[in-house]
Amino acid sequence: MQELVIHGGRALRGTITASGSKNAALPIMAASILVKGTTILRRVPRLTDVETMIAILRALGMEARWVGQDSLMLRSRGADITVAPREWVRSMRASICVLGPLVVSRGAATLPLPGGCVIGERPIDLHLKGLRTLGAEIYQDTHQIYARASALKGGRVKLGGPRGSTCLGTANIMAAATLAQGETVIEFAAKEPEIQDVARYLVACGAQIHGIGSSTLRIRGTDRLEGCEYSLIPDRIEVGTYLAAAAATGGDVCVEECRPDHMAATIEAIERMGVQIDVGRNTLRARRAGDLRAIQFSTAPYPGLPTDMQPQLSALLCLARGAGAVRESVYPERFTHVRGLQRMGARITRRGHLAVVQGVRKMEGTRVGATDLRAGAALVVAALAAQGRTVISKVAQIDRGYQHIEKRLGKLGARIRRREARWAGSRRSA
Ligand code: EPZ
Repeated sequence: MQELVIHGGRALRGTITASGSKNAALPIMAASILVKGTTILRRVPRLTDVETMIAILRALGMEARWVGQDSLMLRSRGADITVAPREWVRSMRASICVLGPLVVSRGAATLPLPGGCVIGERPIDLHLKGLRTLGAEIYQDTHQIYARASALKGGRVKLGGPRGSTCLGTANIMAAATLAQGETVIEFAAKEPEIQDVARYLVACGAQIHGIGSSTLRIRGTDRLEGCEYSLIPDRIEVGTYLAAAAATGGDVCVEECRPDHMAATIEAIERMGVQIDVGRNTLRARRAGDLRAIQFSTAPYPGLPTDMQPQLSALLCLARGAGAVRESVYPERFTHVRGLQRMGARITRRGHLAVVQGVRKMEGTRVGATDLRAGAALVVAALAAQGRTVISKVAQIDRGYQHIEKRLGKLGARIRRREARWAGSRRSA
């Protein structure tokens, strides 16, 4: 087990380049199962979740390998394996995205129930409902999902749930529909940029998808998808995290090669906290001279404020002047970062899906643990601004979504290093 050691209190300064989007990469890699030729994916982040998806695809008989620093070659070799490997699928929620492509292209799928971040209940009922509407027979027990279909047929699928649409559910059903017979209409489709990216990849392979970026997608099934070369969109959550880190430390950071048009709600929230954000065509620069101001914010599906930015923005709020409030509308239980922030001196009171944050002048470094990916990112943001030394254990969680985090923050002037955890068994971890 590894941990990060951060000596806080240094303003971050400098320029970094955005990585490609993890949450676009994973469903696109899964969708490549549908393709007859070779997919070359560009700008793929070197993350453990991406490596997990590579392992799943290989176990399903695909050829998947890195070609160069950030390009992936994916090729279906005519395999007919339909049983996904338990050890990999259990470790990552996005593995559910192989279900639709396997059923439509290989006629069956057996998938252990996927795992993932500990951010509350994460049902898959909408994925299964969508595939059943297209004609798949699905049976589920406590451990596995079994699905089969001789041929999927287009239909009308509603993917709205109690907390909005489902991102990966939309990717899953849309991918399956590209090879189904006839037309599929997805209502209440997710509009997130990552899901638009999945649609654009499929179109580049020859799929017919209309309404990309809207809540109604019309997909006309085709017989065959061909390989293509495709470059992923930048990771708006990674970019937002670095902007939050710049703001927390009173620094001045420019992120290049990003898509500001994907980030309006994040930019607006950080600006309301008193941070200046300069928006270029594909750059974002965050700088803060005065105090951070407390605000109220609420997460929502795109174009609302992403739930994946909530923990990092909550960390920022801990350091603001006055009392702020957070409403988590997508994952009401997504507050595992609160305990670590409290240990660092934050004053946070949680009631259900709400958290009230009373700003403090300083937070103090201590030992904390990354309970999940974005909770870990929030602790990094807080640690960079805190007085003294913070040790963050369970870095593997952070490595799922941030490539080379210590190198990139180090380049911006942070005092941060990674080390093997000492006495991991005997020490208390938060
Ligand atoms: C994606 O997860 C992302 N993961 C998550 O990012 C992100 O938090 C989430 O979308 C919301 O934006 C990937 O892309 C790999 P959902 P997904 O289905 O698609 C409910 C990160 O930090 N729901 O859009 O699995 C669900 O409970 C990760 O990078 C159902 O009710 O999320 C939630 O309240 C963590 N039934 C809401 O919909 C279903 O069948 C949205 O979830 C599916 C979901």
